[in-house]
Amino acid sequence: MNILESQSKEFRNRHIGPGEKETKQLLKTIGFDSIEALMDKTVPPHIRMQEALNVPVAMSENEYLRHIKTVSLKNKIFSNYIGQGYYGTIVPSVILGNVFESPGWFTQYTPYQAQISQGRLETLLNFQTMVSDLTALPLTNASLLDEATAAAEAMLMFYNMKNRQDAVERPKFFVDAQTFPQTIDVIKTRATPFKIEVVIGDYKAIQIDETFFGALVQYPNNIGSVEDYRAFNDAVHSAGAYVVMATDLLALTLITPPGELGADVAVGSAQRFGVPLGFGGPHAGFFAAKDDFKRNIPGRIIGVSVDANGNRALRMALQTREQHIKREKATSNICTAQALLANMAAMYTVYHGPDGLNAIAHRVALFTQIVAEQIRDRGFELLSENYFDTITFKINDAEKLKEIAERHEMNFYFPSERSITVSLDETTTRSDVLNIVSVFNSVKDIDTTAITFDNETDLENIPGSLQRTSAFLLHPVFNQYHSETEMKRYLKILENKDLSLTHSMIALGSCTMKLNAAAELIPVSWTHFNKIHPFAPATQTEGYNYIIKDLEKLLCDITGFAACSLQPNSGAQGEFAGLLSIKRYFESKNEFRRNVILIPISAHGTNPASAVMAGCKVVVTKCDEQGNIDIEDLKLQAEKNKDSLAGLMVTYPSTHGVFEEGIKEICKIIHDNGGLVYMDGANMNAQVGLTSPGYIGADVCHLNLHKTFAIPHGGGGPGVGPICVNEKLAPFLPGKNNEGMVSAAQYGSASILLISYAYIKMLGENGLKKATEYAILNANYMKARLKKYFKILFTGKEGTCAHEFIVDLRPFKTSAGIEAEDVAKRLMDYGFHAPTLSFPVAGTIMIEPTESENKAELDRFCNALISIYEEIKSIENGEADKEDNVLKNAPHTIKIITADEWNHAYSRSHAAFPLPYLKENKFWPSVSRVNNTYGDRNLVCTCEPVESYMVV
Ligand SMILES: Cc1ncc(COP(=O)(O)O)c(C=O)c1O
Repeated sequence: MNILESQSKEFRNRHIGPGEKETKQLLKTIGFDSIEALMDKTVPPHIRMQEALNVPVAMSENEYLRHIKTVSLKNKIFSNYIGQGYYGTIVPSVILGNVFESPGWFTQYTPYQAQISQGRLETLLNFQTMVSDLTALPLTNASLLDEATAAAEAMLMFYNMKNRQDAVERPKFFVDAQTFPQTIDVIKTRATPFKIEVVIGDYKAIQIDETFFGALVQYPNNIGSVEDYRAFNDAVHSAGAYVVMATDLLALTLITPPGELGADVAVGSAQRFGVPLGFGGPHAGFFAAKDDFKRNIPGRIIGVSVDANGNRALRMALQTREQHIKREKATSNICTAQALLANMAAMYTVYHGPDGLNAIAHRVALFTQIVAEQIRDRGFELLSENYFDTITFKINDAEKLKEIAERHEMNFYFPSERSITVSLDETTTRSDVLNIVSVFNSVKDIDTTAITFDNETDLENIPGSLQRTSAFLLHPVFNQYHSETEMKRYLKILENKDLSLTHSMIALGSCTMKLNAAAELIPVSWTHFNKIHPFAPATQTEGYNYIIKDLEKLLCDITGFAACSLQPNSGAQGEFAGLLSIKRYFESKNEFRRNVILIPISAHGTNPASAVMAGCKVVVTKCDEQGNIDIEDLKLQAEKNKDSLAGLMVTYPSTHGVFEEGIKEICKIIHDNGGLVYMDGANMNAQVGLTSPGYIGADVCHLNLHKTFAIPHGGGGPGVGPICVNEKLAPFLPGKNNEGMVSAAQYGSASILLISYAYIKMLGENGLKKATEYAILNANYMKARLKKYFKILFTGKEGTCAHEFIVDLRPFKTSAGIEAEDVAKRLMDYGFHAPTLSFPVAGTIMIEPTESENKAELDRFCNALISIYEEIKSIENGEADKEDNVLKNAPHTIKIITADEWNHAYSRSHAAFPLPYLKENKFWPSVSRVNNTYGDRNLVCTCEPVESYMVV
């Protein structure tokens, strides 16, 4: 080893699991001499790139941290009074340290496997309870992508409910003009494909008639005014339409909640509950509705059910509405959402409790009142009589005030050249109040020394008719963890219930649960990144701008494309944005009829769901027996739809884990028939440095930065789903002149872009390619070990797989009555999270080890599966009972194992400690099999009443 060069390999060697010696052993097991030889047999030669990526040499961790510190200091931290849905907040240190920065929370997967996810399921239930209580609406989901998309989801839900038939009778949606501008932008984008007419106007003047299916108002609105919408809501209902109120959780502690004003739905952002600004995200959007919308509400709902032993057990409810089952008929394409941020907001609420929130809201409102009075008394006209934390004044010269404010390192919002909006938040102090007033001082003479702060002053800014009278957050969870010691322990208790990457590998095919390195994550907590408002002037965001430009360039190089948008905040939003760019391209050429999207049957459910959202018609094409796209059928469909073909959505390597040989031919067929190729980049982990979507011939792709590029999954988000496009589509990326916006913020979940940036910078060209090679090597090693026991579905021409492979468990159903789910649950007894279950083929598991796992961990997992295989064999040969066996009863909780009574046909030790390592290190599932049907029939999506916990 050349020690003078070793620094550039330092991170690579930490990120990639197997060392040199292990690599030889892995290769030997699969029968190859070198990684190069394995690649030659796995990646079709005609798609293999000859040139290296144009990514600079890797930086060491230390070098990178020094570099990013310098870049961070280019961002300027001003006091922000901009508001518009983004507010200063104090992230309680106990939450910052124990959730935001804790791999026990941020490396978890979406809680599909309920038995090893009860911790975050509880926090998400707390989130739902908090939203439901504050909005006074009974039905809530566990977070959406941001406020603007939540508003758009409400619009589409209403649209679908009112226009069930083909003939659209109610094409119009009303939006009050005083709504956050970014919400209006996203609503317009989402309305266009459905030809929904968005009518923007004054809610006091508009006549809602039967041509409207719904309406949206902001409460408090974007100039801060707290309006009484009761009469408006009644009028909308009288016309047979629905109302969504976009609202603010902190304000709702003081003002009458939407549910009590007659709203059907309330949406908003939970950002100001302890989630940093981060230049626009990630933040959790929320969505609450009346009970009538139970089957139609978008996103994930956490519900209460019972386990096989009658214990309370949480799990994700009403799954049958979701895209992975309903595909193009799904209620939304939301897959990755913002779980980690929802958890943080819920924890913020638990920590502060109702009294704490009330005190914060009261202080903010009082400070706002003082500012309002001071400024108004000096002759400025206040435009909002009733307000909470935001006030707007008429001014003569916005430029002048802006210049003075910026000189004093303050940012305000200027809705027009003749108005200024000032938004306060929980970080505002007395001296901030004086500073704000003194900006106006420079225009009109104000003596700030005369300002007094009287704690006893009545709040006069909210009229009696709109003051909140109903109690909220009465549940014990919000009233018992207010000291740091208690909070820390509560967080730990929950964390301990959840299996994360801190315990073992999570071999979820298609999800790429690789290392989320500490050095990649540390800068996300730095104030120079997380205190930046998304609407701050560009002169204050040079650090972010630098990273964004560089990252866009790097991603373009990696994908072989010309332009990139970092705006989509999930893979599925990327799909939507990419398809829109295709549609807008054709529209620019007057080819409006091109709206058919071909999607192979093996595609992820978000593909068809996103295509429908983009206004496309989905035509499903077949796969052959090897799992490859049936090229004949594809050709047939492409030719049949030649005149209306918009394109194809294809995942590569395929969702079956194979580098399909025919991919170039597939792209050609689509192009020959006038369409464009959308490549789903979820499997980019097997492409980087070896080939690329651009090189293969696609026109656009999305990347899941939360898979290939190391952003942690956070228990179901955050994510980033940037799209990269060729020259042709570059003009149609989202966000140019605020057109085609798919997220509220221009750069979506901007602060976590830092993670992917660090990943690329610290791996460099060589490390990125090596990561891909090891992802493929590790998968082939596991396949080689497991194929002696299990049938492996689908491999490439030469018998190798890409970065993942599918294990067929269907034969065991006939031979032993064992289903894929039994194996998934039994894996928990061995301390593992199940691989991806029944996608893309029902009755199978899909294993993706990633490059980050070393041989010992790969072996531990293989040994567990092989041991399960032996357990199945003993059922087959009659040694174990067909019903009462370790698989059918899995997982086994500590309660079950230690119960005085044991009536099973197998031993306790076999149930809990089937392999020796478990005696040293055992992860206990906290509940046993969960009864899904019971939970769906008796939907409870908030914390149950206190009485239900009482032991009778
Ligand atoms: C193949 C594929 N496409 C799309 C998606 C959707 O990505 P996201 O969850 O980021 O919305 C996934 C997610 O698992 C996937 O596996």
